[in-house]
Amino acid sequence: MSQQYIAAIDQGTTSSRCIVFDHDGSIVSVAQKEHRQIFPKPGWVEHDAEEIWDNVLDVVHGALSKMSITVHDLVAVGITNQRETTVVWDRATGKPVHNAIVWQDTRTDQLVRELGGDAGQDRFRELCGLPLATYFAGPKARWLLDHVPGLRERAEVGEVLFGTMDTWLIWKLTGRHVTDVTNASRTMLMNLATLDWDDTLLDAIGVPRAMLPEIRSSAEVYGTATGTLAGLPVASALGDQQAALFGQTCYSPGEGKCTYGTGSFLLLNTGDKPVKSVNGLLTTVGYKIGDEPATYALEGAIAVTGALVQWFRDKVGLIASAPEIETLARTVEDNGGCYFVPAFSGLFAPHWRSDARGVIAGLTGYIDKGHIARAVLEATAWQTREVVDAMNVDSGVELTTLKVDGGMTANNLLMQFLSDVLDVPVVRPIIAETTCLGAAYAAGLATGFWSDTETLRENWHKAAEWLPSMEERARGKGYRKWKKAVERSMDWID
Ligand code: G3P
Repeated sequence: MSQQYIAAIDQGTTSSRCIVFDHDGSIVSVAQKEHRQIFPKPGWVEHDAEEIWDNVLDVVHGALSKMSITVHDLVAVGITNQRETTVVWDRATGKPVHNAIVWQDTRTDQLVRELGGDAGQDRFRELCGLPLATYFAGPKARWLLDHVPGLRERAEVGEVLFGTMDTWLIWKLTGRHVTDVTNASRTMLMNLATLDWDDTLLDAIGVPRAMLPEIRSSAEVYGTATGTLAGLPVASALGDQQAALFGQTCYSPGEGKCTYGTGSFLLLNTGDKPVKSVNGLLTTVGYKIGDEPATYALEGAIAVTGALVQWFRDKVGLIASAPEIETLARTVEDNGGCYFVPAFSGLFAPHWRSDARGVIAGLTGYIDKGHIARAVLEATAWQTREVVDAMNVDSGVELTTLKVDGGMTANNLLMQFLSDVLDVPVVRPIIAETTCLGAAYAAGLATGFWSDTETLRENWHKAAEWLPSMEERARGKGYRKWKKAVERSMDWID
């Protein structure tokens, strides 16, 4: 039988993946490949967009050939991606003019402070839902325009093109220069109400409209692929966190999820109106299916969670693989009073402090490597707690259960601790690859492979659940200590 699968490409911060799904939303085949992390200076992080494109081709080929699937067995391909990472390339040659500037990169620190001026960090929040921070793509594009000789002149006449990773991949696959509303909502250049580029933002941030892609919905056919996937409709694009929201079937207001990857991102569906945050969260587009109205979300973005475990493995060397951290952490009863605030890229939600840097607080001669391993894991849970507190106030709804996904959810010690510090059940679905699944679902809806979101909900099944078991006093004491440690991480950069 032909045409029975949907493929999804997840272009993430550390690797690119291709997963093929069947009609039940089950995984048929997976391939994955890591790419280089380039650190030219402290606080700077770059990717080579051409290396990423080569890897995407490899993983697509890998996922198909592993199960002898041909392009004729596929109905469509969907795309999901690390958000905010910014690439500018030459329209004629297709060559990037510079390495991509990654979302974690803090080189725009001075620029975003200048852009805030007397109005401060929230100068553009009303229009785009975001605080001025190094995280977002528009100021990264402005940095390139200011620093690559001749780039601004070429951008103004459309000779060079801007894109986040979705746009780069769609361009490479189809030759079309488009993005979707979820990715556009991370640039600081899109107006959240009109879902179009906003002249006030473009003028203030200094990015010419001529270099920007067309903004489209998250689920529609943008074009037909050439090359390896020749003839296949490219039918969805969503930022990875929005894709996970979609894959976790959070289709009603009040439903949300947290994805534990390089960073962690808690998104709550707020329905068809953007909800303004006054507690350091982001207002963003959740998804937009074809001509239907957009669904908005509140987001708590945490920059460093899995990346801390990776750092602990690669730079400290106390473990050889990420899962070993659980074994090391279990060699001790508790954290021994040690707290690790991983403010490697400053602090994101709810603090938005680019002047913060990492600290290990509470060290005594008693602390051994097991305690530090615990502190590394616990940092993820405490950061989630801060975001959940902000989310409860901003949304006016108390979180009752947390749906989770992502690589770190394989760590039982962490998931139990998370449930303990949030004091709510934590649940993980059978298909924990929700990012790819969300992109596949959107592409499947756009091409009639699935009929509606109700059908998709039926595919969600609980695989694991962790229930809170910590005493209130212990929770309160731990949280107070965490907050003290966070205070100590601030004001590090002048
Ligand atoms: O906003 C950044 C986010 O999209 C990165 O996600 O999973 O690639 O770390 P991930």
